[in-house]
Amino acid sequence: MTNFETLLIHGGNSIEEKTGAVNIPIYQTSTYKQDELGKHRGYEYSRTGNPTREALEKLISELENGKYGFAFASGLAAITTVFSLFKSGDNIVISNNVYGGTFRLLNQVFNNFGITFSIAENEDFEKAITQNTKAILVESPANPLLSITDIEEVSKIAHKHNILSIVDNTFMTPYLQRPLDLGADIVIHSATKYLGGHCDLIAGLVVVKNKNLGAKIGFLQNSIGAILEPFDSFLLIRGIKTLAVRMDRITENAQFIAEFLQKHKAVKNIYYPGLKTSNGYEIHSKQAKNGGGMISFELKENYDIKKFFSSLEVVILAESLGGVESLVCHPSSMTHASIPKSIREKVGITESLIRFSAGIENKQDIIKDLEQAIRKAEM
Ligand SMILES: Cc1ncc(COP(=O)(O)O)c(C=O)c1O
Repeated sequence: MTNFETLLIHGGNSIEEKTGAVNIPIYQTSTYKQDELGKHRGYEYSRTGNPTREALEKLISELENGKYGFAFASGLAAITTVFSLFKSGDNIVISNNVYGGTFRLLNQVFNNFGITFSIAENEDFEKAITQNTKAILVESPANPLLSITDIEEVSKIAHKHNILSIVDNTFMTPYLQRPLDLGADIVIHSATKYLGGHCDLIAGLVVVKNKNLGAKIGFLQNSIGAILEPFDSFLLIRGIKTLAVRMDRITENAQFIAEFLQKHKAVKNIYYPGLKTSNGYEIHSKQAKNGGGMISFELKENYDIKKFFSSLEVVILAESLGGVESLVCHPSSMTHASIPKSIREKVGITESLIRFSAGIENKQDIIKDLEQAIRKAEM
C-alpha cells in the first residue's frame, strides 16, 4: 500500500483526465447533457453524482482503507443519513459521551420516528444491547471528555449480536486512527474539523467496506439529498493534502500544552489521551498513533472561567475544532448545551469544563496566552 502521506496527495482521482490539471476542477454544474435518450456519459444530475465530489469520496475511502466513500453537507447530514438505515422500533446504543448534536438528533429527531437510543454506562455495551438494538455508535476519543472506547472490542460485541459498529472518527482522522481496520463497519467524519482543517467549510463524510452497506448508503445519500457541493468538495480535497503535516504540529503542540496544564496549580482535572495517567491510555495507544489535538480541563473553584475566556488574546473562543488556529470552548453552554443538564452532569460535562483545540501556532505563544488568562481569572 502507498504510504499514507503520499496517498493524501495522490489518492482519489487527483489528476483530471482531459487536461492533466493537478487539481481536480470544480464541476459547478447541476446537470449534464445526454447524447441520446437513455445514454449519458456517467453523470446525470449532481445530487446523484458530481466529479469533484466523487474525487473526494474516492480519496476518503482510500484514506480510511474502505471501499465506498460518501460526502455530505455537514457531519450531522452524514450522521442523519447513516441513522436513516434504521426503522421505527430499532434501537441504537451510544457511548457515554458523544457530540451534543448527535445526542440531539437521536433525542429530539429520530425519537419522533420511533428509533430509540440507549447510553452504555461505564463502557458496558453488552449490557445496553437489547433485542431491538441494530447498531453501536461510538466516538473515541469522545467529545468533549476524550473518553476512550476499545473499537476492536466494541466491533466484536456488535458482530456477535449481528449489529453494526459505527465509529465517529472526527477527533482522530484516518492519519491517527483507522476504525475499519479495527473491525468497524461504518466510519463517520465531521470533515468540518481536522480534514478541512481551516475553519472555512462545513462537511461530513462516511466510509464503508461492505458492498451491500455501500449500496444502501449510496441510495440514502441520493434519496435524502444532503450532499456536499462541488466547491466545498474541492476545498476539502485541498485541506486533506496537508493533513499529515498539520496533525504532526497540532499533536506536538497538544502534548506539550497538556503536560503544561497537568502541572499547573490552577488545573483541577485534565483529560488528554496522550497523557500516561489518562483513563484508557493503554487502549488508546493500541488503536491510535498519538493523543491527538484535543484537550479538556477544569480550573479550580477559585478561578473565574468567564474571565479566563475573555482574557485570551491568541486562542480564540469559538465553537468547532480542528483548525490551524487554537480554539477554546465551554461545552456545557456551547457544543453540548443540547444535552439535558442532568445527563451532562452525570457524564461529567460540568460548568467548569473547558475544551481546547490545539492549532499550529508557536507552542510557547499558546502557553503564554493560557498562562496570562489563567492568572487574570484567579479570584
Ligand atoms: C465528533 C463530532 N461529530 C459530529 C459533529 C457534527 O458535525 P458538523 O458540525 O459538521 O455537522 C461534530 C461537530 O462538532 C463533532 O464534534
